[in-house]
Amino acid sequence: MNKKLIFTFFVFSILFIMGCKDNSHPGYEYMPNMYNSPSIETYEEHVVDQYDGTPVKGTVARGYKNLYTNKYTDTITDYLLSGENVTYPSDFEKNTKNLDDGKELYSIFCAHCHGDKGEGGSSGKIKDAAGIYSEIPSYKDNIAPRRSGGPMSDLREGHMFHAITYGYNAMGPHASLISEEERWKIIYYIKEELQK
Ligand code: HEC
Repeated sequence: MNKKLIFTFFVFSILFIMGCKDNSHPGYEYMPNMYNSPSIETYEEHVVDQYDGTPVKGTVARGYKNLYTNKYTDTITDYLLSGENVTYPSDFEKNTKNLDDGKELYSIFCAHCHGDKGEGGSSGKIKDAAGIYSEIPSYKDNIAPRRSGGPMSDLREGHMFHAITYGYNAMGPHASLISEEERWKIIYYIKEELQK
């Protein structure tokens, strides 16, 4: 009998202690960072310790304005001006390494539409019911006039840079996918190997 009483007392005191929990207190936290992580909404301004807002190395921020996109917007006027005035950066080296890099980047970002050799038509792997991707112009085409006024084979590096940055009709913009340096490598490869 005594034992039963002691046991009941013991159980009740445990329940009592558990029941005393202060609801405004979270209790034991083994990994507080998990409970108290700051809520950061996508695409909103926020302050993160030790991060000054510059894009992480090797990434390209969406909508990131730079010298080029500030000056040349997505208009035909700026496309033509870009063709006229924009060329390789002064520190860009036309060497084998950059040519090889350009070839690899082209095979990743462009070849599935434009074809491995840039011959366009239906040479790319992408096929669609509407046939848009079967009519891609060849970089070597020297007849059909483009928006630049001349054929594909006359497109200058500034035209290409604008086209890669902003896209054109069925070709989407690549500004958030490919860094400027990489764009120049691709253009260098196209100019050296696919346009001539
Ligand atoms: C989703 C398919 C697709 C991808 C990926 C693509 N393109 Fe295009 N590209 C097109 C199409 C379609 C056109 C023709 C658009 C038109 O004439 O309406 C085009 C046109 C162009 C032009 C001519 C633009 C002009 O000013 O007349 C250039 C230069 C070009 N692409 C370069 C590239 C490069 C470089 C890449 C890779 C970084 C690339 N494209 C990736 C589909 C694509």
